[in-house]
Amino acid sequence: MTSLKIGVCGLGTVGSGVIKLFNNHQGLIQQRCNADLQLVHIGARRDNAGCDTSRYRVSRDIFEVVRDPEVDIVVELIGGTTVARDLVTQAIQAGKHVVTANKALIAEFGNELIALAEQAQVALRFEAAVAGGIPVIKVLRESLAANVVSGVAGIINGTGNFILTEMANAGRSFDDVLAEAQALGYAEADPTFDVDGTDAAHKLVILASIAFGIPLDANAPIMEGIDTVTPEDLNFAKELGFCVKHLGIARRCGDAIDLRVHPTLIPSNRQIARVDGVLNAVMIEADAVGEIVLTGPGAGSLPTASSVCSDLMDLGKVLNHTKIDPAPILGVPSDQLQALPLVPRDEVSGVWYLRLVVEDRPGVMADITGLLSERGISIESLIQRPPVAGSSQVTVVILTDSVACGRLDAAICDMESLPALSGSVVRLRVESFKEV
Ligand SMILES: NC(=O)c1ccc[n+]([C@@H]2O[C@H](COP(=O)([O-])OP(=O)(O)OC[C@H]3O[C@@H](n4cnc5c(N)ncnc54)[C@H](OP(=O)(O)O)[C@@H]3O)[C@@H](O)[C@H]2O)c1
Repeated sequence: MTSLKIGVCGLGTVGSGVIKLFNNHQGLIQQRCNADLQLVHIGARRDNAGCDTSRYRVSRDIFEVVRDPEVDIVVELIGGTTVARDLVTQAIQAGKHVVTANKALIAEFGNELIALAEQAQVALRFEAAVAGGIPVIKVLRESLAANVVSGVAGIINGTGNFILTEMANAGRSFDDVLAEAQALGYAEADPTFDVDGTDAAHKLVILASIAFGIPLDANAPIMEGIDTVTPEDLNFAKELGFCVKHLGIARRCGDAIDLRVHPTLIPSNRQIARVDGVLNAVMIEADAVGEIVLTGPGAGSLPTASSVCSDLMDLGKVLNHTKIDPAPILGVPSDQLQALPLVPRDEVSGVWYLRLVVEDRPGVMADITGLLSERGISIESLIQRPPVAGSSQVTVVILTDSVACGRLDAAICDMESLPALSGSVVRLRVESFKEV
């Protein structure tokens, strides 16, 4: 039986969860991977009151874990991309295997770290980096390895999903729900990455890389956050038979890849539309298996620790038989990853939800529909609210047929130059997932 000694850096939400799983399930962990996995060293700047570390060596300098000759696997759970990058680099250079939950690190510096790990013949695993407790990396990389994947789409930021769910179900404002998400510990003290789509984009880039065999490129996705979605849009969406979810979408389009994260109207009867609160869901469409949907907790101490431990146990199983993890880190060896062109933003086609406020007088609607028609854009449905008492303005909601983004931009520009239009046109993408 292989003996592997583990060092964990970071004793926050995820780190403390990993320690708890080792404290409570040590026997089960060893039995199920048939390896002597032992947690021996923790690097933490301070104690975590909710976590018993009494049976392990604890160092205040996290780099002591990397320098510890006894440690075979370093688990990076500090987050960020500066110290974490140094820590992981040094661990790999010291010939240690690495497990991390850090999506920002993998999305931004994964190519460099994977090349280093391949050179050093050590493993680099990151199941917990995408969708927390949902085993999606393993499914894409291993379980679906015999498939050609055509698309991956998912709710991959729990904070964003919590905010949109509360806004839709309770009619609350964005700021109000965001404050609650922070109080409940769902959102970071600085929630920028959750709100502006960066966190979802990092995860999407990792999924797309494994799904399509392309290098990691953190800047590739078209990115829109949830801060522009209003309760009014959520209500109109409901009336039209849709839910609004913040989705990451990676789709193969011929020889190009369409990558984007944005708020999206999806039909209320789709399984993914019923994934509420902090839950995540990932939908994968592949040629042999068809469509599968994985749902579960996308964050949290023990769910995320469950994924970290699954990586550790996989290494235990593999290293029982060989000194090197033979599984390519992104599904194919990094020198066989193939960059594919991205579908340019202007050419991404889709159905759109538009909301506009216009003067309530004859001819205005004809002007709007005329401008759309001039750009070759058909209208699928239209809602016009009567003016509220005392107002001379009406709200109009339009669902278009499928149209390229560039053509829609031009039509919106035309509409916004109409004197009868007040403010800007609100636009959200609609996905029915017929093709994904
Ligand atoms: N939380 C989740 O549900 C979740 C889910 C999936 C993935 N992740 C990923 O898991 C990683 C850890 O997240 P978390 O939520 O556990 O974070 P966290 O609760 O903020 O904990 C981070 C830990 O790392 C330590 N740390 C941070 N920077 C450090 C530095 N420069 N030097 C030494 N120690 C440092 C912190 O120490 P101090 O307490 O002293 O600051 C703390 O112990 C991140 O990459 C995150 O994206 C988290």
